[in-house]
Amino acid sequence: MQIKAKVLGTGYFLPDRILSNHDLEKIVDTNNEWIVERTGIRERRIAEPDMRCSDLAYEAAQMALKNANLSPEDLDLIIVATDTPDYMFPATACVVQARLGAKKAGAFDLEAGCTGFIYAMSVAEKFLLSPDFNHIMIIGSEVMSKIMDYTDRGTCILFGDGAGAMVLGKSAGTCGIVNAEIGADGTGAGLLLQPGGGSAFPASHESIDKKLHYLKMSGNDIYKFATRIIVEISERLLNKAGLGIEQVDFFLPHQANIRIINSALKRLKIPAEKVLLNLEHCGNMSAASIPVALAQADEKQLLKSGAIILTVGFGTGLTYGGALIRWGRD
Ligand code: ACO
Repeated sequence: MQIKAKVLGTGYFLPDRILSNHDLEKIVDTNNEWIVERTGIRERRIAEPDMRCSDLAYEAAQMALKNANLSPEDLDLIIVATDTPDYMFPATACVVQARLGAKKAGAFDLEAGCTGFIYAMSVAEKFLLSPDFNHIMIIGSEVMSKIMDYTDRGTCILFGDGAGAMVLGKSAGTCGIVNAEIGADGTGAGLLLQPGGGSAFPASHESIDKKLHYLKMSGNDIYKFATRIIVEISERLLNKAGLGIEQVDFFLPHQANIRIINSALKRLKIPAEKVLLNLEHCGNMSAASIPVALAQADEKQLLKSGAIILTVGFGTGLTYGGALIRWGRD
């Protein structure tokens, strides 16, 4: 199978401020034991009030560029995957492009919820087939705390802030994205959304009074969808690549709930030591969860050249997707 894109560098950024389960006990009717048992989360990072999505994205991008040994002028395209952009428009990717000084790069945002980074990887992989694109920066960046209703214990305990980035380049060797696939089932669009602020319910006194600017979620429906779709995509990707599950060295699912991840491990028969996790200390960072976990593993030099990584995402939309990556710079 032709490898189209390879990973040239990774980076991440997490805000310093920690919101623990014990902190949440003081603001909402919950407790540490319930959260740990039902989700696997102990704490999450929260951005300072003046921090925007582009601030987190910029820091992660800087680290990825350094890691790739490239300068901002080398970038041909910047894609920011996010649910929590700086503005409805312009794109956060444009703000990041200006701050980096990536003068040659096109820039756009991509909205696919927690699957956003997988979508960005899949889009970048195809762009890299064109002679016009050599280096693409993809970023998952979220300030979920800005759209949390801290009186809703069903959602506010789950999410955290952070950003992860990756520079992709053309591949002539054996390492890179073996295959990537994306999908959607828009009939579930109402299951996880921020209803207010768009053209359906523009911002108004009424929209604020009704708390439409906060994230709303039917947790149980998303849970059922996630446990099913992770297994389906994993099997499809492996079949397409002609690989067996035992050939997977690292499994990196979207980090939403440890019970979803454990169910996938059991059904796919993947040993627990192969899973890359940051859920316990970061919560669900939506589009940032996967790239932060990948960059953290890269930083710790856990990912040896040639290692096969199976990564799978699911989220609002409903969207889903996955990628098989053969790690290495060759
Ligand atoms: N603390 C204490 N009790 C709670 C809390 C809490 N934080 N939240 C809910 N409960 C209570 C409920 O009120 C309910 O009580 P009741 O039985 O008296 O009515 C009980 O706990 C069970 O509630 P459930 O909602 O059934 O709990 P469940 O085990 O399903 O866990 C959860 C809820 C954690 C939200 C789970 O459904 C989940 O993780 N779903 C997936 C969510 C997800 O993956 N979202 C991200 C998608 S990605 C994206 O695109 C952003």
